[in-house]
Amino acid sequence: MKRLRSLIPTFVMLFLLVVAAGVAVWLWSAGDEMAVQTEAGQTGQATGTGTPAIGGPFALTDQTGKRVTEKDFTGKYMLIYFGFTFCPDVCPTELQVMSGALDELGADATKVQPIFVTVDPDRDTPEVLARYVKQFNPRLVGLTGSAQDIAAIAKEYRVYYEKVKDDSSSDDYSMDHSSIIYLMGPDGGFLTFFPPGTSPEKMAEKIKSLIQ
Ligand code: NI
Repeated sequence: MKRLRSLIPTFVMLFLLVVAAGVAVWLWSAGDEMAVQTEAGQTGQATGTGTPAIGGPFALTDQTGKRVTEKDFTGKYMLIYFGFTFCPDVCPTELQVMSGALDELGADATKVQPIFVTVDPDRDTPEVLARYVKQFNPRLVGLTGSAQDIAAIAKEYRVYYEKVKDDSSSDDYSMDHSSIIYLMGPDGGFLTFFPPGTSPEKMAEKIKSLIQ
């Protein structure tokens, strides 16, 4: 009896330790979940200091069926947006803003290559992209590829996308995706990004300040 009584505080201590460890693990996993949600958000907020690691090499197919890599755009600023041609409103709006910004830039626009990368390669073949991109800007390049190609570039550009069920769509699915326009430098390095709602004038102003 005496021995047992002296053991009780030890049991209590062990119990508290287990509870504390459990709480720590729970907090840690909740933190992870929050980070994922932030990444998937539409706000396009780049946090932290320094230049975010956005961008990198890619190998995709353009709207003419030609294989292209990031090297094909070396020496030009890339204004790059990820979306899909079936998108009812967000993608067309953002592509119009990109096109409007290029109009605002005037002669400087030739230094900037507008690029649309699909996150829906199943439907967005080069032919579909060819019909789509010319509606926005004659210089807009549309890029597609295999599911793996798209996953690779989306990861590099930290673009979230996901197939979601949508009964109103003819193919029963739509794509959820983050909506951020990136400006990359002539060496392919990240310069800045434009969140949804940026006006063509603001975008042109910012691009102008960065390319001169
Ligand atoms: Ni869209």
